Amino acid sequence: MATSITSILVGLLYAIGTTALENGVGKLPALGFNTWNMYQCDYTADILLEQAKAMVDHGLVKAGYNTFMLDDCYSLKERDAKGRIVEDPKKFPKGMKHFTKSLSRLGLRAGIYSDAGYRTCGGFPGSYGHEAQDLETFADWGFSYLKYDNCYIPFDNVTQENVYGRYARMADAIAARAKKTKSQPFQLALCEWGWQQPWIWGGRLGQSWRIGGDIRPWWSALSSIINQASFIASETRFYARNDLDILEVGNTNQGTPPGNLTYDQAKSHFTAWALLKSPLLISSDMKTASKETLEILENHDILKINQDPNVGEAIAPFRWGLNPDYTWDPDHPAEYWTGNSSYGVVFMVLNTQDTPRQMSFNLTESWAIRAGRLYEVYDLWSHTNNGTAYRNISLTLPPHGVAALLLNDAGPEPEGLEPYCAGYWQCSFPNGTYYSN
Ligand code: GAL
Repeated sequence: MATSITSILVGLLYAIGTTALENGVGKLPALGFNTWNMYQCDYTADILLEQAKAMVDHGLVKAGYNTFMLDDCYSLKERDAKGRIVEDPKKFPKGMKHFTKSLSRLGLRAGIYSDAGYRTCGGFPGSYGHEAQDLETFADWGFSYLKYDNCYIPFDNVTQENVYGRYARMADAIAARAKKTKSQPFQLALCEWGWQQPWIWGGRLGQSWRIGGDIRPWWSALSSIINQASFIASETRFYARNDLDILEVGNTNQGTPPGNLTYDQAKSHFTAWALLKSPLLISSDMKTASKETLEILENHDILKINQDPNVGEAIAPFRWGLNPDYTWDPDHPAEYWTGNSSYGVVFMVLNTQDTPRQMSFNLTESWAIRAGRLYEVYDLWSHTNNGTAYRNISLTLPPHGVAALLLNDAGPEPEGLEPYCAGYWQCSFPNGTYYSN
């Protein structure tokens, strides 16, 4: 009897929890800085605060990058006598509270990192079995956002849980703490590397989930993430985001490991991440950031769509391009993408080849376009109006280059344009005769 009531309750929980948490936190993708790609474990509070200051000086905080994520390696290797995580006094000589207060003074909310196993991936204490206690420590230190990793998992006979269950332990601790203290819940970023289709269940527990393993600062790694994202692009919505991983923009010839992205590759990277509504966390040196890097990160037209308050969904592919549709190809992912936004219909066209290429599409290949209409075309990179288009658009793109366009209705097409149907073979005259394009 007890078992059947339990299973009914568990069943109900699963049934209720099919949508996003919507607990008031993290409606839009997080924007900010994360320490990992740039520093890994090699940082101090002073070094990080210099980055935060540079973000303010460059206008990035004003542009919306308002979260500062302290990733792995901030603590001592062992907990104290009371089981608490202790900040590393060499890295944080003035204490963690001083660090988060300094961030807050610069207009940044503070995020921290832990792990759903015994240890973090860097070998520092993980939160398995210490969920509520660690959350209290993080809150006391001044953090309100938690990235939660997946290393050093206890044996099955210990957890008697799968990935979902281990992450639910922290999600439950967050909900319980919010209720008890009548405060805003922590924002939770799941990082189980896309192991168990987190895009299906991640929104029940947190606000974002990593869709794959660690990003690397070269094109093959980026195109592989774009390929993965192309199959789950429609799984992102308000309060629940596919996380394509920390940005590598700016890590050309620097970072850990040093990157080699060209300007066009960095632009494509940023465009895809932003329009797929991923969190956008910078992780390159903002003190020495080049004009190009800042121009990419501060593209207000693209950021505006990433942060659209009315449209939660992302762009998705409408045609794969080089490959037949729905082909899995980490080197040549989908090339033609579209979606809606508060500002117009969005198109992203990606040249996945190593040579310049002319690329074109019919406007009505996008579900968001009305047939028989003219459209004004705005270029989200040149920030210019490029005239009016009807039927199709043709572009020449550099190797691994991108075009990002915003189209707005400009009235009906001129009468009598042939073909009468831009796309489909089922068009017919009123008398039932098919019109063949
Ligand atoms: C990885 C994670 C990275 C970073 C690193 C820290 O598992 O995917 O983003 O957090 O651990 O050790």
